[in-house]
Amino acid sequence: MTNLYDEAYQQSINDPETFWGNAAEDCKWDKKWDKVLDDSNKPFYRWFTGGELNTCYNALDYHVDERGRGDKIAIIYDSPVTNTIKKYTYSELRDKVAKFAGVLVEQGVVKGDRVIVYMPMIPEAAIAMLACARIGAIHSVVFGGFAAKELATRIEDAKPRVIVSASCGIEGKKVIKYKPLLDEAINLSSSKPEKCVIFQRPMETASMVEGRDIDWSDAAAQAAPAACVSVAATDPLYILYTSGTTGQPKGVVRDNGGHLVALKWTMKAIYDIDEDDVWWAASDVGWVVGHSYIVYAPLFKGCTSILFEGKPVGTPDAGVFWRIISEHKVKCMFTAPTAYRAIKREDPKAKLMKDYDLSCFKILFLAGERSDPDTIQWSENNLNVPVIDHWWQTETGWAIAANCMGLHHFPVKYGSPTKAVPGWDVQSLNEANEPVTPGEIGALSVKLPLPPGTLPTLWQNDARYKESYLDEYPGYYKTADAGIVDEEGYIYVMSRTDDIINVAGHRLSTGAMEEVLSDHPDVAECAVLGVEDSLKGQVPVGFLVLNAGVERSNDEIIKEVVQMVRDRIGPVAAFKTATVVKRLPKTRSGKILRGTIQKIADNADYNVPATIDDPATLGEMEAALEGIGLAKARK
Ligand code: COA
Ligand code: AMP
Repeated sequence: MTNLYDEAYQQSINDPETFWGNAAEDCKWDKKWDKVLDDSNKPFYRWFTGGELNTCYNALDYHVDERGRGDKIAIIYDSPVTNTIKKYTYSELRDKVAKFAGVLVEQGVVKGDRVIVYMPMIPEAAIAMLACARIGAIHSVVFGGFAAKELATRIEDAKPRVIVSASCGIEGKKVIKYKPLLDEAINLSSSKPEKCVIFQRPMETASMVEGRDIDWSDAAAQAAPAACVSVAATDPLYILYTSGTTGQPKGVVRDNGGHLVALKWTMKAIYDIDEDDVWWAASDVGWVVGHSYIVYAPLFKGCTSILFEGKPVGTPDAGVFWRIISEHKVKCMFTAPTAYRAIKREDPKAKLMKDYDLSCFKILFLAGERSDPDTIQWSENNLNVPVIDHWWQTETGWAIAANCMGLHHFPVKYGSPTKAVPGWDVQSLNEANEPVTPGEIGALSVKLPLPPGTLPTLWQNDARYKESYLDEYPGYYKTADAGIVDEEGYIYVMSRTDDIINVAGHRLSTGAMEEVLSDHPDVAECAVLGVEDSLKGQVPVGFLVLNAGVERSNDEIIKEVVQMVRDRIGPVAAFKTATVVKRLPKTRSGKILRGTIQKIADNADYNVPATIDDPATLGEMEAALEGIGLAKARK
């Protein structure tokens, strides 16, 4: 017997043009597309070529002007760290966005210009993004937890005409000044913005640079609202930088047309959300989840989206999620498993849940890292709703695998984000580019073309796009995740095949951290690995081999490298542990045996690799790891 999922899936793979063409009919186009899928320049596929539209119009004006839903709440800003709850209707949000778009226009921003948004989780971050979309400018949001140097790298690559920022962010009880970081980043970058628009928050007033910096509130008070500008479906909407395998992040590009069509479709198909529902993605606008599911998809759908400035614990306590769900009548929420692990650790019996009526709550969605069965079961038992793991990446913009709750609810298999979402032909491949037998591990890959809303390329770098994602498995997109597809089509995502680690749902490159450590004058050689952590999933740990003759204390050097990673990558890297070793375990050809070190650190069983240069190095490694409380001695 078929179900809605099977029907949708088959059509999306066998006849993608009809499938996505139908989905596109649900969106507002200024000019209809000529072709749904344009494969004239393989492997660079394009969706909805010839079509013209405006993303901001679809997110806001459409609901206000054409559907009479201007009074519906678009965004609820809930900020326990500032004791604020503020609601914006679609009309109010549209007007604020149009005004801020006017501010950008007055600063000379035109279609195709880049605007960097370096903001905390305040409504102005979403307003800035939507204002860019309104005038056809390309936004690039940079997460607040990155250091000035990371911001500088992004400024250097995107070359923004304008940067939008705020005086500060609030992290738990700390006020983090953003403006000094922004000023330092601009100093470090050879590309300079012409203007910076700064939103001054009441708890911190940023000092302004004469002639360059503009006060958001003053400028918005005087600006004339700007109208929506038509852009090509294939024009970029945004660039979002994500960790690659080097210190140079990848600028993932998202187009306007495919993004609108795919994301609007997902709200019902995957998340079972209708326009009168309240939806909450507890993430940050600096991450792809924030782009797709705090800002764009819920607004395309016309429902209410919660924008949360706070943490799962400590703001003020581990009951804040339950307070928000019951107070705003949230139907479904989406967050990273680490957030639930943090709550579970603080309130294992979920006592704080009892204070709230959660009858409105129907589904919990988790993504960003592997969902461990413990966390899923704890959430299922306490919330008494389906807990749905789903798998995706910054590059894909929306889920590759999920239990599509608006189509068909499949039985959950713990450890699996269920099946490929319609649009995704997922295969687990061997090195010869052939699908492995069901149940065997391989390289999780997606047969081209990727569905709409995914990355068409990397910002001004087609070569790196091809090399990173398409060259290794011809005809496929390489996810860089290893995993299994079983006989029933359930997908299991096991581990990354590159040096990316996931720390509290944040994607980081150990290679980038190694670049920082190598810069320390006393470090001859180093390795950074992600080791298992019961709260954050993984945390980075550094192994340092010092130059011969170094006489300073190890503790001193470790303190310095920890500070260097914090200063150059940012606090979000959570790099707090390192140890000095005499040498690193290597193969005879000199390759560091990362996999083996990782297993020792995670207390997993390992075999001594046949290619090891000196097996004694493994014992030394065990001792070093034991010294920092990681590996248990194996007597
Ligand atoms: N601006 C400035 N600094 C930031 C920041 C921001 N936007 N976000 C995080 N940081 C800082 C934190 O203050 C912390 O600094 P510290 O070392 O001085 O304490 C550091 O970066 C690490 O932050 P975080 O990863 O948030 O760890 P935490 O220990 O403060 O909290 C959790 C742990 C699990 C509660 C937290 O990571 C969390 O809520 N995770 C949810 C994950 C999520 O939303 N992921 C998005 C993908 S869905
Ligand atoms: P990001 O680009 O930050 O979204 O990180 C993407 C990576 O996070 C993926 O390539 C996976 O390694 C990991 N990831 C995301 N969601 C899941 C999931 N549900 N299960 C396992 N790993 C996941």
